[in-house]
Amino acid sequence: MASAPAATRLSSYGTCSGNLAHVRILVIGSGGREHAIVRALAQDGGNDLHAAPGNPGIAELAETHPATSSVPEEITDLAGQLRADLVVIGPEAPLVAGAADSLAAKGIACFGPAQRAAMLEGSKSFAKQVMTEAGIPTARSFTCTTSSEAEEAFRTFVPKYVVKADGLAAGKGVVVTPDIDVARAHARHCGTVVIEEFLDGPEVSLFAVSDGTTAVPLLPAQDFKRAHDGDQGPNTGGMGAYTPLPWAPADLTEQAMDQVIQPAVDAMRRRGSPYRGLLYAGLCLTAAGLAVIEFNARFGDPETQVVLDRLASPLTDLLHAAAVGDLAATAPPRWRDGAAVTVVLAAEGYPDAPVKGDKILMHERTAVPRAGYLLHAGTALSPAGDLVSAGGRVLNVVGTGADLAQARAAAYELAATVEMRGGWYRRDIAAGR
Ligand SMILES: Nc1ncnc2c1ncn2[C@@H]1O[C@H](COP(=O)(O)OP(=O)(O)OP(=O)(O)O)[C@@H](O)[C@H]1O
Ligand SMILES: [Mg+2]
Repeated sequence: MASAPAATRLSSYGTCSGNLAHVRILVIGSGGREHAIVRALAQDGGNDLHAAPGNPGIAELAETHPATSSVPEEITDLAGQLRADLVVIGPEAPLVAGAADSLAAKGIACFGPAQRAAMLEGSKSFAKQVMTEAGIPTARSFTCTTSSEAEEAFRTFVPKYVVKADGLAAGKGVVVTPDIDVARAHARHCGTVVIEEFLDGPEVSLFAVSDGTTAVPLLPAQDFKRAHDGDQGPNTGGMGAYTPLPWAPADLTEQAMDQVIQPAVDAMRRRGSPYRGLLYAGLCLTAAGLAVIEFNARFGDPETQVVLDRLASPLTDLLHAAAVGDLAATAPPRWRDGAAVTVVLAAEGYPDAPVKGDKILMHERTAVPRAGYLLHAGTALSPAGDLVSAGGRVLNVVGTGADLAQARAAAYELAATVEMRGGWYRRDIAAGR
């Protein structure tokens, strides 16, 4: 599919002291990330907000619409019916399926890359090709389609082995293991895989907003992927996150923009697939410098919940400018001082087989309430009107404060007020940071 020009339906905007006003925005998705996005867009004021499918928390801020969130034509139809000025795509699946292309073909502005640009997330081997071409630091790797190719790759590296399914795998595509048999079995199971060198060091997530030419960084954040305290247990979609990162090098963002984000944006533009949307770089800070672990083509969940909490300038302007190719003329994002921590409240059985339908009760806070709020992730309203769990990650509590210690105290204080049978959360998010 050819990359479509930036959308042009802009005439309905008014402007008010430099900010966009009365923008009709449709946000696609139903998780904590989308609730955080909708919350930030609502705080800009004056927007007419819609979400599909949304969740009960989002429904307090936006009109929600039942829609299959991954089917490009359905998204475009809904955006057309709503006469949306801007569509913000939360999850990766609709982007990789071509939602941005479908919207562009109808002249509707979309925050989120076209299908060919979303390949940076949709295909690990494609991402490696782009990184090689652009000189972006990343683990040495081989793309393998047969077991003899996989064996050759395994012989090249020392354990731990890192085996990645090439395509989207909903968080289940990567195995990192010292056990060659486990690595082999995963490679056989996945078909085409990227087998790469093990990287050692702390991981950080850096998001940048790009309009295809210009890229601006958001705040770096760190998430917690393993289910249990002390980074034990199975991998999850993410059990918590925090920002800022007081321990990270002061020039981390600058390094990542120079070595990773801008070279990737430039390479995609040269390829004729300009990257418009959010480019998420998963970085490992190794002894030899930073290296890319992965790219994602959308906001990360749950890092978005803390990053957007800190945003002091309008999200609407930033996302719209990226969608229409106007970032160079837009003021860079401004940030609040202090810190934010989010803790994910998960359902019994998550991540393997989350139990759904448990009632969620919120108790009054007894202590002097600190700064905190709840975002909905996997929630629904029962026929009786009760708030119930409807996914593995059910709620995100967000705590804020002057520093991480205060923000984490606020988050855990709020978490303790939520009652749900079988519900659980990690106790060590942002501890000791
Ligand atoms: N080369 C590597 N060395 C060490 N650990 C790695 C490496 N590649 C991946 N990992 C670990 O595996 C995790 C998942 O890998 P990756 O981010 O590539 O997969 P993903 O399924 O696309 O993740 P996400 O769901 O966050 O998009 C990483 O966060 C990291 O902890
Ligand atoms: Mg990924």
